[in-house]
Amino acid sequence: VSGASGALVVSSRLDREELCGKSAPCLLRLEVLVERPLRVFHVELEVTDINDNAPIFPAARKNISLPENSPPGSRFLLEGASDADIGVNAQLSYTVSSSEHFRVEEENSNSRSKSLFLVLTKSLDRETIPVHRLLLTASDGGRPSLTGTVELVISVLDVNDNAPQFNQSVYNVVLPEDALEGTLVAQLNASDSDTGIYGEMVYEIDTVVPPSASDMFSIDTNRGEIRLRGTLDFEAVTLYELHVKATDKGTPPLSGHCKVVLEVQDVNDNAPDVLVTSLSVPVPEDASVGTVVAVLSVSDRDSGANGRVRCWVWPSGPFGLEATFSGSYSLVLREALDRETIPVHRLLLTASDGGRPSLTGTMELVISVLDANDNAPQFNQSVYKVQLPESAAEGMLVTRVNATDPDVGSNSELSYTVTNFFPPSSKDVISINPKTGEIHLTGNLDFEEVNIFDFRIEVRDQGTPPLSGHCKVVLEVLDVNDNAPEVLVTSLSVPVPEDASVGTVVAVLSVADRDSGANGRVRCWVWPSGPFGLEATFSGSYSLVLREALDRERVSEYEVEVRAEDGGSPSLRG
Ligand SMILES: *[C@@H]1O[C@H](CO)[C@@H](O)[C@H](O)[C@H]1NC(C)=O
Ligand SMILES: *[C@@H]1O[C@H](CO)[C@@H](O)[C@H](O)[C@H]1NC(C)=O
Ligand SMILES: *[C@@H]1O[C@H](CO)[C@@H](O)[C@H](O)[C@H]1NC(C)=O
Repeated sequence: VSGASGALVVSSRLDREELCGKSAPCLLRLEVLVERPLRVFHVELEVTDINDNAPIFPAARKNISLPENSPPGSRFLLEGASDADIGVNAQLSYTVSSSEHFRVEEENSNSRSKSLFLVLTKSLDRETIPVHRLLLTASDGGRPSLTGTVELVISVLDVNDNAPQFNQSVYNVVLPEDALEGTLVAQLNASDSDTGIYGEMVYEIDTVVPPSASDMFSIDTNRGEIRLRGTLDFEAVTLYELHVKATDKGTPPLSGHCKVVLEVQDVNDNAPDVLVTSLSVPVPEDASVGTVVAVLSVSDRDSGANGRVRCWVWPSGPFGLEATFSGSYSLVLREALDRETIPVHRLLLTASDGGRPSLTGTMELVISVLDANDNAPQFNQSVYKVQLPESAAEGMLVTRVNATDPDVGSNSELSYTVTNFFPPSSKDVISINPKTGEIHLTGNLDFEEVNIFDFRIEVRDQGTPPLSGHCKVVLEVLDVNDNAPEVLVTSLSVPVPEDASVGTVVAVLSVADRDSGANGRVRCWVWPSGPFGLEATFSGSYSLVLREALDRERVSEYEVEVRAEDGGSPSLRG
């Protein structure tokens, strides 16, 4: 206070906030003493507010955590700012830096304690923006207005809102069917953008198509490796489809799915199969060329070249293969058969596929040939010459004819007959055993009657129709001295006159012996000879001639024998 003028002056800066804090009005009560005369004045000095304090937040930065699944509209209480001023200078309004997810909201339940809320306007996604940074500004009502800020660091808390996801929806794999057990089929790779256990996953095979193959594959649940647990077989299954899922460890867990398509490649692991579908054996020997003997089915379970089969037969004749339609072959006759040369054919059928290396299947076929009556019986000799003495006894074996027939069975069952007799009258002389071909005498021979026989023999088999062969048996009869010479008087001139001259023919004789050769060669003489002698005139004829003069008075009558003896041994006489 100025002592002279009594002016009250401000000696140091007034600070309403320091003096009065939040209370209003801010009155400074002064007692002013005036001496001489002593008087006391009461002075009330009101300090009015000016906006000299900016709003202040408790901290420059505020960490907030929000679960990412908070629904839009959720409100989170914020600590507001304070302003040491009063009145409008302390009237705060809030704004937040522009954000599509957040706004601030003041709630004037009563004006004394306003609540400040952070309001979520849009769903959060930790995986897109894990942390939001906002600047919250508080402005007071002064003119000019003062502001204070706080940085809101909003961390979005993970929830299990992401399912694991495979890097491919379909994994295409090709493996040969001979892939070993344990072969890696596929390395799956799923990822989960959640964190912690929400992002940890377990791989599992859900289903396998075909279902029977569910034990064929194993999966490493942590690493997603699928391996073969069994052996593949292209011929059984060519394509597998595995539905695999990856599940995270959230509660509840989420899963992702993928498909593994395994194509099996054929390997030449099957040899061709030769199968006889029908077989007509035995084959008749007279079957015509082109006759189908067997129908074969040739198959190979492999595919493509591995299953393409080539077929042949060994030896190459007399049978051949003809392809009829896919995988079917006919074994046909290519050349005429001859059972007598080869009665049984052993064929080797070979089928080989086009794999590398190629596999081979074989089959042995035994084809027997059924006899046809295609061979006539044949005699060992065309002519059998036999000599027998005419004295041969009835029943004696003349000869045995023998024929052979290379056919079998009734086609070679032979029977013998005599078809022609020469001379024709000789039917009863011989007989033949139809089975054995033995020829026996059934009558007597007589050289003098027939000295040579000629028989025609037929042999016949029992085929249908039967075939026959022929031979000739010539039987020569040998003479035996069985006929005595015979002497006959052809003419006789008796009595003889006593004076007949020497040389007179008394009788003409005929001498014969039916035997031949020495047996028929006859010597003749007169006994006792007396005056007579024999003179051969011509063959077999003799004359009894007078050799001496007769004398009736001495001998009136002669009795003579003409004797004949043949040359047989022993000789016979007549
Ligand atoms: C907020 O979080 C940051 C990093 O996350 C940390 O350094 C800081 O100390 C935290 N502040 C408070 C007030 O918790
Ligand atoms: C999965 O794929 C990701 C990216 O493609 C790669 O970084 C990771 O190593 C893969 N995991 C496996 C197990 O191969
Ligand atoms: C998926 O992951 C597997 C394993 O890591 C990998 O071999 C394959 O190339 C990946 N596929 C793609 C399309 O990235």
